[in-house]
Amino acid sequence: MAERPDVEELTIEECSSENGVIIIATINRPEKLNALNIDVKEAVKSLCAWAQESDEVLVVVFRGASPLPPPEGKRQKPHSFVAGADVSEFVGKDSVAIRPEFEDNVWEAVWKLRKPTIALIDGYALGGGSELALSCDIRIATNRSMFGTPEINLGLIPGGGGTQRLTWLVGYGKAMEMVMGGEMIDGKEAHRIGLVNHIVEPDELMNKGMEIANNLSSKSPLTIQIAKQAIRAALDNPITDGILLEHNMFVDLFDTKDKEIGVNAFMERGKPEWTGE
Ligand code: COA
Repeated sequence: MAERPDVEELTIEECSSENGVIIIATINRPEKLNALNIDVKEAVKSLCAWAQESDEVLVVVFRGASPLPPPEGKRQKPHSFVAGADVSEFVGKDSVAIRPEFEDNVWEAVWKLRKPTIALIDGYALGGGSELALSCDIRIATNRSMFGTPEINLGLIPGGGGTQRLTWLVGYGKAMEMVMGGEMIDGKEAHRIGLVNHIVEPDELMNKGMEIANNLSSKSPLTIQIAKQAIRAALDNPITDGILLEHNMFVDLFDTKDKEIGVNAFMERGKPEWTGE
């Protein structure tokens, strides 16, 4: 059984919903704009393993810690979801040193979680931070957020799935411009090009996130997992194969208890009590 991580760099809140638990995982390195160092990456990987195994956990929400009040005479650090991988950990490393970190990596751990995931973005989502958001199923951002893939400015390219998932989400032309140009775009533009699902005022972010998380947690955990799998099949397969896969998944759901529960609840004007079977 995977263990729930217990480290300062990742705070984990369990919020009760009607059918189980919504996890709010906060990346907590505000002094470094929540940059992903090895400890954070390992903690998020452990969180995903634990959340996957837990019957209670229905949805996982990721966010970045808010800036701390500045010391006397110092300026306030900006708001940030995650300002990327921790660049200080790249210094002097060669391919042999970096490969293990990027093979079994945090972005794939989030992407492969079979439960719904939501990124709540308030501030910078850069490099590995934008890739973390891209690994989630749904992205909600505040209007003061900034997105970008600035790796090109470090002599690098995105290494956490950014070139692939960004291209899927915003299309070839925008991905080319963002990855090769390394410029940031603001929340409004991110919303316009489909990089984020919703754009809200900062004080509405958590409410909007919880509204969506609560809705997702009210569905059958089994059916929602199949829905996610079916949509992902669209990324991996030609459309004819994808439609066949969807067809088979749909038909197989007719052998589940939750299909009978859902259909009967509709017929009887009742509320479905899912079993997850
Ligand atoms: N890795 C390591 N440290 C980072 C970081 C990162 N990706 N992003 C920010 N930080 C640190 C800064 O070094 C600084 O630390 P310090 O106060 O100990 O010196 C602190 O976070 C605040 O950042 P700072 O640059 O002073 O804030 P700013 O408001 O002037 O600029 C950014 C904000 C986001 C524009 C700028 O920090 C930045 O460009 N970050 C790097 C983004 C990046 O290249 N990400 C991709 C990595 S693959």
